[in-house]
Amino acid sequence: MSTDTAHRAAELRALLHYHAQRYYVHDAPEIPDAEYDRLFQELQAIEAAHPEWRTPDSPTQRVIGQVLEGFAPVRHAVPMLSIRTETDTEATGAEAFDARVRRELELDEQAPPVEYAAELKFDGLAINLRYEQGVLVQAATRGDGETGEDVTQNIRTVRGRPGAGGGIPLRLQGPEAAVIEVRGEVYMRRDDFEALNERQRERGDKTFVNPRNAAAGAVRQLDPAIAAQRPLSFFAYGLGEVQGWPLPATHSALLDALAAMGLPVCEHRAVVQGAAGLVQFHRAMGALRDALPFDIDGVVYKVNRRDLQQRLGFVTREPRWAVAHKYPAQEQMTLLRGIEIQVGRTGKLTPVAKLEPVFVGGTTVSNATLHNLFELRRKGVRIGDTVIVRRAGDVIPEVVGRVPGLRPQYVPNFRMPRSCPACGSAVLREKGGIDHRCTGGLFCPAQRKQALLHFAGRRAMDIEGLGDKLVDQLVDSGLIRTLPELYTLGLAKLTALERMGGKSAQNLLDRLASSKHTTLTRFLYALGIRHVGESTARDLARHFGAIDRLMDASLEQLLEVNDVGPVVARSIRTFFDQAHNREVVEQLRAAGVQWPEHDGTVADTSPKPLAGQTLVLTGTLPSMSRDEAKALIEAAGGKVAGSVSKKTQFVVAGAEAGSKLDKARELGVAILDEAGLKALLGAAG
Ligand code: IVH
Repeated sequence: MSTDTAHRAAELRALLHYHAQRYYVHDAPEIPDAEYDRLFQELQAIEAAHPEWRTPDSPTQRVIGQVLEGFAPVRHAVPMLSIRTETDTEATGAEAFDARVRRELELDEQAPPVEYAAELKFDGLAINLRYEQGVLVQAATRGDGETGEDVTQNIRTVRGRPGAGGGIPLRLQGPEAAVIEVRGEVYMRRDDFEALNERQRERGDKTFVNPRNAAAGAVRQLDPAIAAQRPLSFFAYGLGEVQGWPLPATHSALLDALAAMGLPVCEHRAVVQGAAGLVQFHRAMGALRDALPFDIDGVVYKVNRRDLQQRLGFVTREPRWAVAHKYPAQEQMTLLRGIEIQVGRTGKLTPVAKLEPVFVGGTTVSNATLHNLFELRRKGVRIGDTVIVRRAGDVIPEVVGRVPGLRPQYVPNFRMPRSCPACGSAVLREKGGIDHRCTGGLFCPAQRKQALLHFAGRRAMDIEGLGDKLVDQLVDSGLIRTLPELYTLGLAKLTALERMGGKSAQNLLDRLASSKHTTLTRFLYALGIRHVGESTARDLARHFGAIDRLMDASLEQLLEVNDVGPVVARSIRTFFDQAHNREVVEQLRAAGVQWPEHDGTVADTSPKPLAGQTLVLTGTLPSMSRDEAKALIEAAGGKVAGSVSKKTQFVVAGAEAGSKLDKARELGVAILDEAGLKALLGAAG
């Protein structure tokens, strides 16, 4: 028994050593962090029971990471340590830390709560920035904690996000200390990561597993030109060596001082009292986690007062005054049970992983995207494999790779079907393209369904109530084959559907009717032209002002539009070159779908039903934002004023309208709801 355990300890040491190399040295891990942590804890437990088996080179005894060939080694003036991690529940984790701190400081129960600085644990790569006389002279990775890699060239290209900060200043503002070493995390924002991977996918290049790896790979990229193309950001959270600068008395004051020097410091931090304050912070940030623009894997608690930090000191690899408190991991291992094909709006076939359900990123996931056949092949994923699933924020869960060495024997490679699973049409891959597509077009019920769902979407025609189930029914029953047919639905046809009562049918018809008054931006987006997202639709609407001008625009004219490149221009041209697509536009217009138009760059000749009228908006309208309402009114020749007066013709009031509504009543100004406004705009014809 005990020899078995000794055996297991040796095996764990070897495994941990191997996986730490993959992670720290090659930036290419094979197992999720959560799995690494499990193995680490298993070894810790064995070593705690049998201290005599602990070896000096055990991964539990040192900070792992080594200098990559090609980078000059940098000896850290002050070692870069790591911190202890709590994985327990929010209360137990925080209370255990607070109790330890109080014990070490010999505080009795009567003593007031300890003050903590609480901040986020950014999931990136630790960096030491050395500023001499206010100028960035060197940047180094953590390495093994004693010696890191000189990555100054690459770090100089960390620009952050224009408007969102996160750039590393080459020069500090304010007092020029002889030496200030700033420590913090280089990371990649989720949107930057998604865009980078999308680019990689389009080129058929290798995608990155997660933002942390993409960031670490970029920082440790030997070619600074490549590093410069990777969008990186930075947050400061501490100090290394300091000369000639008086240290602030608390950690929170230190972060304020770093921010004042022009360094990016995350706004989500707090000074809290005692374990209760820590628990509250952990809970609040846990709720915020999905909405943050970057990955965090936990929060960090630090004793706020520096004198107390000094009294607490360090144990081997960790300070006693700080702890990381983790959240549920965003990556987990699970079994790939099968692969299904999903047909999208543009006919794209997406392989979807059917998984043994797994708790990841705070929810249970049983489906995850595999993107396309190329990526599936590159990742070498087969049914029966143990795979790594990632779910971060509101991004759809994806399979990012497989765990090597766990494959059952004799599993065939996955193949794309030659005919569409939804309609039987041929499946083709464009020359040089990556995606497989169903050639059935709107004949394919799966494409039709997705096109309808997109058309009805909140940001498109905004037809509430037209969701998955109803679209399935409408298409499967053969009631709807084309988008314009939506507007030919009547009460009788609808109530003939299963589970469709008179009331919900009427609601849907009302929604359909009010969706007819829209904007050109929404309409263009709703058409679902490939590569035309919301912002391109907006640019096109602004530029051309009228759909006919857009439909007739040449490639050259399309290329004049802000942010429209050759791929997008060609896609728009191809779309409108197809007679059936023009017919869809005509039929929708004939059904009464309308929007205000303007004359693009030339003088505006569209009808101006609101010319000379002043309107005031108040409260929240059910389907349009204030900006959209304003744009519609202005396009119709009206003016939008901020306050109600005798000169106001109409007040448009939504939910929770306040004093402006009272004022309108007092002055006897006409009051409209959204439908009323649309009717007024509709007078434009
Ligand atoms: S403080 C001596 N604060 O987590 C204390 N670390 O093991 C030094 N990290 O790789 C660390 N966010 O790069 C600290 N707000 C934060 C952090 C943070 C992320 C990383 C750090 C290191 C690991 C700590």
